[in-house]
Formats: sequence, structure tokens, C-alpha cells
Amino acid sequence: MLPRIKVGLIGVGNCASALVQGVYYCRSRGDSVKLKYPEIGGFRPEDIEFVCAFDISEGKVGRDLSEAIFAPPNNAPKISDVPNLGVEVLKGPVLDGLNEYTKRIIKVNPALEVDVAEKIRESGAEIMVNLLPGGAREASLWYANEVLEAGCAFINATPTLIASDFSWDHRFREACLPLIGDDLMDQVGATFLHKAILEALNRRGVQILKTYQLDVGGGTESSDIERAWGTKRAIKTKTIEMVLPYKASVVAGSTDFVDFLGNRRDSYIWISGECFGGVGFEIEIRLNTIDAPNAALMLLDVIRGAKLALLKGEGGHILPISAYAFKHPAKILPIYEAEKLFEEYISSKS
Ligand SMILES: NC(=O)c1ccc[n+]([C@@H]2O[C@H](COP(=O)([O-])OP(=O)(O)OC[C@H]3O[C@@H](n4cnc5c(N)ncnc54)[C@H](O)[C@@H]3O)[C@@H](O)[C@H]2O)c1
Repeated sequence: MLPRIKVGLIGVGNCASALVQGVYYCRSRGDSVKLKYPEIGGFRPEDIEFVCAFDISEGKVGRDLSEAIFAPPNNAPKISDVPNLGVEVLKGPVLDGLNEYTKRIIKVNPALEVDVAEKIRESGAEIMVNLLPGGAREASLWYANEVLEAGCAFINATPTLIASDFSWDHRFREACLPLIGDDLMDQVGATFLHKAILEALNRRGVQILKTYQLDVGGGTESSDIERAWGTKRAIKTKTIEMVLPYKASVVAGSTDFVDFLGNRRDSYIWISGECFGGVGFEIEIRLNTIDAPNAALMLLDVIRGAKLALLKGEGGHILPISAYAFKHPAKILPIYEAEKLFEEYISSKS
């Protein structure tokens, strides 16, 4: 039997909740869970084990991870029971982790901050997943340093540019540690769908003139309108623009927070273009998804990919994993090309 994959979590919010539940969902249902990649490098999602977790919130720090994932303001749906994990959520530094809205709803736990790098080392974690709020740039960079110091692979699900940044790539390469990111792409999210439709239209010889993708969400993450607006919009717009081999008018980015949506997200995609003879057409789509579980499946693939990268002895930005599962890898690829690259990567031993 292969050893378990030891994973640590930075931020115990909605995504973390869906990820932890996702592992136990797979453990309780076994082969009945239909996965595109049941095994990656011989590892199944059930082989993931959570060994440490960091947060700042009063309702999460000091509690077992199995309870903290269900503590408010988390509103990810429950898809699985999670047994006591024997992993106490530890307090990290707050830095820029709270925004104007979350400052009002999240009380910072008064516990002393731990030495994060030391606690990661003690836990035996091999892979750390950054699930901090999108606007927490300073905190994300701070944790990336701690992870490097602790000697772990780093997966950055947030829009802070780390994996796609040359200097971080260099530092992780020097340390022979895999670095994967940035900004996770959901299994069935607006970015995936938008890219897939534009790619298909482009292959069909259609000329796209203008397109936008906007959404409203009710998860805590969506509340950070001011801080996340700039980076998130820049990343989403760039990843959509890269689909087309010519210049079209593209706007893509989160727009607003609607608290009563809970963990739901409504995404609106509008495309206008011309077919043969200069004849115009328009496409309008509304996609309604539940945010957190949409990220979980991708993270289960990415974590197993990161373990494989560790086994291969690779360090620095891992393009085949980042391009497959993230909106802003060092090089943005068309969806099917990225998927092919990922499949080649996970099927080769070296
Ligand atoms: N579908 C998705 O959910 C999805 C998709 C793509 C990217 N992402 C990214 O994943 C990240 C996590 O999303 P989420 O919905 O779980 O967010 P969330 O707001 O629900 O969770 C963030 C967690 O981080 C904690 N936190 C804040 N500051 C901290 C600090 N300094 N140290 C430790 N913990 C701290 C908060 O208390 C909270 O528990 C975001 O950056 C988001 O952009 C999510």
C-alpha cells in the first residue's frame, strides 16, 4: 500500500471545508464515486491525509479541523461526515487576512500566534494548500515563505501571483520543491465554460467581437469586492483573452456580493460575434453553481499531482499541473491542450 499524502491547509474557509469533506466523501463511497482520474501516480483521493491547518477566526482556531470546517461564516454545503481528525487548527498572523466586511463578521481568536514554519515541519506535511481570502496578498506571500522554510510543496489556490512569478519559481526550484498555481479554476466554473465555448467557436471559424463574464456570489470570499476586484478581474480577463488568436473586447471578473445567495454563485456570460457573411450572433448564458465543492475536485487532482511532482524530484513551477487546474499559470494554455499535458505528466514516471 502507498503511504498517505500529508497535506496542510492555510485558511479553513469554504474551499477547505469542501476539500476535507471531499476526501471523506470518496473514502465512504469508494469506487462508486465517478472520477475522471481515479488514480494519479497510484494515489486515490482517499490517500490524502490532513496533518495541519492554520486560521485566525475565533470559531476555528483551537478546534479540531473536522469541526472548524463547519464553523460560521463557512456556508459550504455538507456533502460528507468528517470524523475527528486529531488536527487542531492553529493561529497564524492576521496580516491583511480580513477585509471591511469580514472584519465585522469574523472575530480574531485571542490565542498566541504559533511559529508556522515550525508547526508545519512538526506535522510532517509535504504539501501546503493556500486557501486564504483572495485579497490577502501580504498574508499569502508571508505563508509562501514559511512553507519554503518548512520544506514543503506549495499549492496556491488564491489570485495572489506566486507560482507564476519568476522569483518564487526560482526560489522553489532552488529548494527542489514543487510550486503550483495561481488562482484555481473550478470544475464547472464560469472561466472554464467561457474558455470552452470561445475555443469551440474559434475552431469553427467564427469571429468573436465582444464578450463579458460577470458574477455574483454569497460566499465570504465574494465579499471582498474592493480588494479582489483588481487582481481577480485582471487574471480572469487575461485567461479569457488568451483563448483567441486575435484581439477582441473582453471583460471578465467577479462583480458583487449578495449575502443571501449563501455559497451559491450566479455567473453571466455574454458573447457577440460574426459568422460567415458578416452576420451577427449573440450567446447569453447564466450558470448557477455552488462555489466550494466546485473547487474540491480540482484540488483533489492537484494535490495528487503535487505528490507525484515530489516523487519525481521536481522543483519550481510545475506547468502541466498549473495549466490544467489554474486560471493564471506561468503559461496559459487552451483547455484541451492543458488537459493533454496534465495527462502526459501523470502517466510518465520521470
Ligand atoms: N470555487 C472556489 O471556492 C474557488 C475557486 C477559485 C479560487 N478560489 C480561491 O480560494 C481561496 C479560498 O476561498 P474560500 O471560498 O475558501 O474563502 P473563505 O473566505 O471562505 O476562507 C478564507 C479563510 O482564511 C481565513 N484567514 C483569513 N486570514 C487568515 C490568515 N492571516 N491566516 C490564516 N487564515 C486566515 C479565514 O478566517 C477563512 O477561514 C480564495 O483566495 C479564492 O479566491 C476559490
